[in-house]
Amino acid sequence: MCGIVGYIGQQQAAPILLDGLKKLEYRGYDSAGIAILNKDTITVSKTKGRLKNLYNMIDGGNKLPGTIGIGHTRWATHGEPSDINSHPHTSTSGKIAVVHNGIIENYMDLKEYLTSKGYCFVSETDTEVIAHLADYYYNGNLLETIARIINKVEGSYALGLISSDQPDRIIAVRKDSPLVVGLGEGENFIASDIPAILKYTHNTYLIEDKEIAVLTQDGVTLYNTDIEEIHREIFTVDWDISAAEKGGYEHFMFKEIMEEPQSVLNTVGPILRQGLLTIDKIPDCMHIIACGSAYHVGIVGKYVIESLTRIPVEVDIASEYRYRNPIITENTLVVVISQSGETADTIAALREAKKTGAKIFGIVNVVGSSIARESDEVLYTLAGPEIAVATTKAYSTQLAAVYLLALSLRKALGQLTPNEEKRYGRELLRLPNLISAMIEQKDKIQYYASRYYNARSVFFIGRGLDYALSLEGSLKLKEISYIHSEAYGAGELKHGTISLIENGTLVIAVATQEALFEKMMNNIKEVKARGAVVLAVATEGNTKIEECADGVLYIPKTDPFFTPSPAITLLQLFAYYVASLRGCDIDKPRNLAKSVTVE
Ligand code: F6R
Repeated sequence: MCGIVGYIGQQQAAPILLDGLKKLEYRGYDSAGIAILNKDTITVSKTKGRLKNLYNMIDGGNKLPGTIGIGHTRWATHGEPSDINSHPHTSTSGKIAVVHNGIIENYMDLKEYLTSKGYCFVSETDTEVIAHLADYYYNGNLLETIARIINKVEGSYALGLISSDQPDRIIAVRKDSPLVVGLGEGENFIASDIPAILKYTHNTYLIEDKEIAVLTQDGVTLYNTDIEEIHREIFTVDWDISAAEKGGYEHFMFKEIMEEPQSVLNTVGPILRQGLLTIDKIPDCMHIIACGSAYHVGIVGKYVIESLTRIPVEVDIASEYRYRNPIITENTLVVVISQSGETADTIAALREAKKTGAKIFGIVNVVGSSIARESDEVLYTLAGPEIAVATTKAYSTQLAAVYLLALSLRKALGQLTPNEEKRYGRELLRLPNLISAMIEQKDKIQYYASRYYNARSVFFIGRGLDYALSLEGSLKLKEISYIHSEAYGAGELKHGTISLIENGTLVIAVATQEALFEKMMNNIKEVKARGAVVLAVATEGNTKIEECADGVLYIPKTDPFFTPSPAITLLQLFAYYVASLRGCDIDKPRNLAKSVTVE
């Protein structure tokens, strides 16, 4: 979703803003713009389309002198992608410029009010009300102005604001939308995400909701809405810029798949060394809430946790959970899974659950993100920054995290025998090797991709954990290759969907679950009998599957609970190669955003 950067210092701001926006491209956008404050004048340059258009328009920023500025990549919500609707937006006088991420929910009321006061709106955006409100409330003190604005607006926002009347500062504030402040020497920054500023500083303030940051060249001061100064510890980012760069790979997605073995090891290693997680209170039941791929991890979690603990687990899509009035008791453990920690629906669902007094257990990748801060306990996945829109290494570490949670719960119940603890621990520590073994098979996976990349429609089928995995394999393929794809429980196909199977339809049959293998063989035969071409995924040794499938990719043997780990890497690589052969924009698929910060 939208990306914000801001710079104040001694260097020319425009090239730094463009560079920062480039690092935020992964979030998804359809237009871009910057506003530069130079000698008491604000100049705005903005345009629809790729950042390259803006770059060319202002000669890489060289055309715009000035050492203070704000920049934005917009992902349209209110009003089509257009030059006019792009940010920054300015007050009519041109003295105030603002960039915004989020949605101002009461913007229609505010617009009506401001119109009655004589303000003219030029765009269709909700953001423009902020620029006019700032003008309306401005009393010579931008800090007080922003505090008044916060009291008026409803919704979610990260805002960056400059004014030619106070040309020595940037004001920033956030609520339910990500924003970090970067602390340099003689220069300071704001950004929607750390990669945008990492080239310049590792020191940041992670600001809380409704905290206002006033940035000058020499320092940053934080205030609450009563304009009282607040103190914040500096958060030092411990990964370096190379983690957020392609490092010679053609795509972030591929690089991130290559990083999976290390990310999984980083996530499980320290916890297994400490002897699993401490669970203070055994819940009566559990709810897992998440969106997209993280929701698919939740489905794996349900199978594994229920098998290992017999604690009932419900899994919900966050956007449904938040409105369905779920039955949550004090003894429900609510597990919230999110890579970004900023997904709007997941945050809202978390808050709904929290109101009931339930305990929130977060599985989160981004340190200090909203979900991490609002959870009672957090298990961090240590995937490092994930830039490609389609999640890969974060998904793999989330899987590892739910395995750890399931085992910890079983231990807390007193049911995990020392032998089991050793055996499962050993298997979890083997996962990085199993994932590496899949990566080593990449040529074979690419070969199958080259056979099937022209498919019009694909069905993924599986049973048990393989069904959960099929959901993710299918999502990965469709989101980056734009091939229509659906996942079904293999036994469910007969209840309607099998009518779509015709000569040449590609079916990817995931059959790694030993106990369900024979059943899967039958399901493969059923679709073969109707003309399907079947690519199967099975466990090494189960060569019998070659009798009925057209092609087979094997994963190494492991405990049945853990087969999704190597198998997903295989399916991610398959999706990657298919999308690559189709010439798709792999890291930034159309219409998608990395961090979905609006409902
Ligand atoms: C798909 C994908 C999305 C995210 C979903 C939740 O590849 O990345 O489905 O999993 O938007 O995002 P987070 O985990 O940041 O809450």
